[in-house]
Amino acid sequence: MSSFRGRDVLSIREFSRADIERVLRAARKMVPIALGKKVSRSLEGKILGTLFYEPSTRTRLSFESAMIRLGGRALGFSGAEGTSVQKGESLADTIRMVEAYSDGIVLRHPQEGAARLAAEFSEKPVINAGDGAGQHPTQTLLDLYTIWDEKGGIEGRNVALVGDLKYGRTVHSLAYALAELGATLAFVSPPTLEMPREIVEHVKERGLAVRMTHHLEEVIHDADVLYVTRIQKERFPDPQEYEKVAGTYRIDTALLRDAKRDLIIMHPLPRITEIAPEVDRTRHALYFKQAFNGVPVRMALLDLVLGGGE
Ligand code: NCD
Repeated sequence: MSSFRGRDVLSIREFSRADIERVLRAARKMVPIALGKKVSRSLEGKILGTLFYEPSTRTRLSFESAMIRLGGRALGFSGAEGTSVQKGESLADTIRMVEAYSDGIVLRHPQEGAARLAAEFSEKPVINAGDGAGQHPTQTLLDLYTIWDEKGGIEGRNVALVGDLKYGRTVHSLAYALAELGATLAFVSPPTLEMPREIVEHVKERGLAVRMTHHLEEVIHDADVLYVTRIQKERFPDPQEYEKVAGTYRIDTALLRDAKRDLIIMHPLPRITEIAPEVDRTRHALYFKQAFNGVPVRMALLDLVLGGGE
């Protein structure tokens, strides 16, 4: 088992099964602190730099909340307006500055590979909070935590990833991790937004079954987890192509009539029209709990990377 201290978190592929399990167990212990029922000062004096070049609500705020709950502080920007990025400063130079002002950096950026580049310029740990259509490893850790916590494990569970599997970074990271942990996968997407071939091949190489379809109705009855995603409008080179696929899937209570009683529906959020609001009141809806789980999971990770977390 590798040490987390000072480690970059760039891709979930760098996490072994043992690493993932270690974060999940540490996250469970963080829940009372995340809820404000217990107090911890384990990151007292530590500063986290949060650089968000793309919009974010949950990821940025849950990183900040995690830091504050552990007695540390966060500083940074949300949108590069008002910073020297507007004057043309390179990512490398911005990273060099923030490195000098903090103990670790969380970066969200529209370009795939941006976090890896940032890590080359920073001695301090860099955490990828989403790089274009690339990876979103901390989202995956909280997604895994949610499944593990609700279902008592991940191996052998039927997990259907639904929506924009081409541009969605959350599903890219999650597919790798679920394959590592032995889940049974189904990929449900419009024909033009299928999971990248290299990820499908990776899953198959691990000897796991993967079902690929364009029809949600085909997977709904045996899914244990439905992981629904937004069509990533901002990543389409041609807006007309987006219009063709917008609204392809919509989960509503009628569709759920065929679902297992204990099916859980997850979504990294934000949702647009892919989950009807009426679903929020059903026992299946887990997406808000999932969003909360971002706090204990990020606390666990920050404690391991920046602090003395075991
Ligand atoms: C996701 C993202 O930014 O990739 N949001 C998140 O971090 N919870 C999903 C999305 O934007 O659709």
